[in-house]
Amino acid sequence: MTTATARAHPNIALVKYWGKRDEQLMLPAAGSLSLTLDAYATTTTVSLDASAAEDRFTLGGTTATAGQTEQVVRFLDLVRARADSSAHAVVDSHNEAPTGAGLASSASGFAALAVAAAAAYDLDLDRADLSRLARRGSGSATRSLVAGLGIWHAGDDDASSFAEPIEGPEMSMIIVTVDPGQKKVSSREGMRRTAATSPYYPGWVDSTARSLEEMSAACRAGDFTRVGEITESNALRMHAAIEACEPPIRYLRSASVAVFDAVEQLRARSIEAYATADAGPNVVVIARPADAAAVADHLAGHGDVRIVGAGPGAHLITTEESA
Ligand code: DP6
Repeated sequence: MTTATARAHPNIALVKYWGKRDEQLMLPAAGSLSLTLDAYATTTTVSLDASAAEDRFTLGGTTATAGQTEQVVRFLDLVRARADSSAHAVVDSHNEAPTGAGLASSASGFAALAVAAAAAYDLDLDRADLSRLARRGSGSATRSLVAGLGIWHAGDDDASSFAEPIEGPEMSMIIVTVDPGQKKVSSREGMRRTAATSPYYPGWVDSTARSLEEMSAACRAGDFTRVGEITESNALRMHAAIEACEPPIRYLRSASVAVFDAVEQLRARSIEAYATADAGPNVVVIARPADAAAVADHLAGHGDVRIVGAGPGAHLITTEESA
């Protein structure tokens, strides 16, 4: 029996991934760029059990739902096919994000699972290979293999769609949790609906490809202001495309919009801060590290506020062989 434990952190995209061009291979419609965080880690242990009749998955110490287990089994099937193994596994996963805070992410979950499963099944994969593998579980997991800023090249096949590090200005993220509830429409479903029904989807995909080029240049130049401007406009474009779906989806609530307003006020006072939001009501604000505390103070009335920074890529913690 082989046991491997890995740890991964969620990431927040500055240029968002929203839409797939191949659901089977999980190839995105456009590339994206994110910061891997130093908080809210997922730790996952995969133990092979040659005598087990099926895989088992526990999340936070309790048996996962049928839907969650099915996603993990499908992922392990990919790993088994590559390893030419038929052994089932016990997967035990713990999230440090507070339950229901909207931060327990599929990115850290599948990045940790990819690293732990590859080690347990004895696959010899480098970081780019692990990023490709994590992609098959959840698109955003592709980027959690990278420490700090990472760019996910959209690619046009399995081999060319992976994430790698990119240099950029130092920044802090201020996470503003305005609503700790679960989102009503999953990212996967929201993306499908946007691609199928939003008249703005083609514009979103085209403009994201351009924003990614500009963002990469701004990162390499260490231009925090431009990084922030592109971040905020890219997020608002994503939400505009999503809100134009039929039936419509609105992830941003009035409390979320109030945070965008407060960030605008900060800029009027010459504190540079820029807002973004994923598929939910919570808002993440980027700022220079020296301004992070002032930004957090200004936003304190809007919800639970936490300052986070750049964190490590998904990595193996332990492996153990036993008879
Ligand atoms: C808004 O990676 O959760 O956070 O690939 O279907 O698992 P699947 O979706 P997921 O979507 C993330 C969407 C986003 C933007 C981003 O992280 O780039």
